[in-house]
Amino acid sequence: MPLDIIVGAQWGDEGKGHITDMLAAEADVVARYNGGDNAGHTVTVGRNVFKLHLIPSGIIHERALCLIGNGVVVNPAVLLREIDALAEQGVDAGPGRLKISRNAHLITPAHIALDKARETQRGDEAIGTTLRGIGPAYTDKTSRTGLRAELFADLDGLASAIQQHVESHNQVLVDVYGAEPLAAAAVAAEYAAYARRLQPYLADGTLLLDEALKNGRVVLAEGAQGSFLDLDHGTYPFVTSSSPTAGGALVGLGVGPKWVRRVIGVAKAFTSRVGGGPFPAEVEGETALRLRGTGDKPWDEYGTTTGRPRRVGWLDLVMLRHAARVNGLTELVLTKLDILSGLAHLPICVAYEVDGRRLEHLPTDATTLAQCRPVYESRDGWAADIMSARAFDDLPANARRYVQTIAEAVAIPITYVSVGPGRSQVIEVK
Ligand code: GDP
Ligand code: IMO
Ligand code: MG
Repeated sequence: MPLDIIVGAQWGDEGKGHITDMLAAEADVVARYNGGDNAGHTVTVGRNVFKLHLIPSGIIHERALCLIGNGVVVNPAVLLREIDALAEQGVDAGPGRLKISRNAHLITPAHIALDKARETQRGDEAIGTTLRGIGPAYTDKTSRTGLRAELFADLDGLASAIQQHVESHNQVLVDVYGAEPLAAAAVAAEYAAYARRLQPYLADGTLLLDEALKNGRVVLAEGAQGSFLDLDHGTYPFVTSSSPTAGGALVGLGVGPKWVRRVIGVAKAFTSRVGGGPFPAEVEGETALRLRGTGDKPWDEYGTTTGRPRRVGWLDLVMLRHAARVNGLTELVLTKLDILSGLAHLPICVAYEVDGRRLEHLPTDATTLAQCRPVYESRDGWAADIMSARAFDDLPANARRYVQTIAEAVAIPITYVSVGPGRSQVIEVK
């Protein structure tokens, strides 16, 4: 049963790219199953830093075939830029290494314009989307008016579909939002050029995966975003429009649950969030600056896709227990443990308090969650820099205790901790 699923256990940016790259060393196929270029996954190999938005983080190793699954929404302009940027960095992301499911949906300039118009209209209640057209593209998908990547194999069909698509969205842009209309013919010409380049990448994703799995190959499903941005299980409406949770991997790739071997949740040793919405264990001021960093290090907490400073807070066990439940996590990987070095005390949120009541479980609605106050238990920190640790026993006793506390509280094993962005900085927990 060799399907391993990597899911974000918080609000995204947990270090999924880093962990996917590590596990991709032994994978035959690495497949993205949800989201689009709202994702920004960082892989650091020596001095090279790769920022991936659509291409699976398995592309850096030469071994794995990479697949953009049917559950992904693809902006072809971004994808081609990413393919070209990888080529400049010496990584082949040609059709021999990368496939796009024919059933993946396309993002167009009309989706991006609508995303911007809707966010502007929401004003103070904006979701804080990445403005990449994600919500409108998934809206078209569910309303059965979307454009699928398969159109790249039918240039005439693509031209008329784009023409119609832009014209119908122009009506909404102009009449509802008072925005400028888009030039349908120009968009159609642009997409015809993308189609010519991307046609050789098209594949039947489910067939490709089925053949790999039946032959005992290891398939790694790489999630984007995180469990609390999930359309169903996240802090709705402050969520994305796809399913980053483990179930989304099955739908977003077209594989059955019988193949699943591991469900690997990735969490930071603290918490971060970009955009609006409740965040009970959020901190501000000096502590926030300490966790976020000032932006002088590549791993400081500024969005990979948008450059926005991320909101930060302490580790939240209520969230991690919820993530373990909705994903059926078999294990957890803890990243950025190194960031906590030098802090004397490490508060961990173990429960919430609302209206004098103690909550052990995440409330199902964002309004109640916004009223929740964190209940902290404090652990002693450690002074030493741990970025050069290469084995679990190299870590200071308090760092090991911090990891063990989390594993016990979430009741699943922590299999790796990461103490830096580099390949050698992921430590197996034995
Ligand atoms: P993703 O979206 O989940 O793939 O995460 P991002 O790439 O958006 O953000 C994670 C950031 O933390 C990146 O800059 C990574 O290089 C970096 N990173 C990952 N693991 C570690 C770690 O253990 N320590 C440090 N210092 N940085 C890390
Ligand atoms: P990775 O894969 C962190 C957030 C946005 C916003 C909300 C909705 O790098 O972990 P959207 O553009 O999806 O409609 O925005 O979701 N968001 C992310 N936050 N990491 C991501 O991806 C995110 N992708 C979307 O900031 O709050
Ligand atoms: Mg990211």
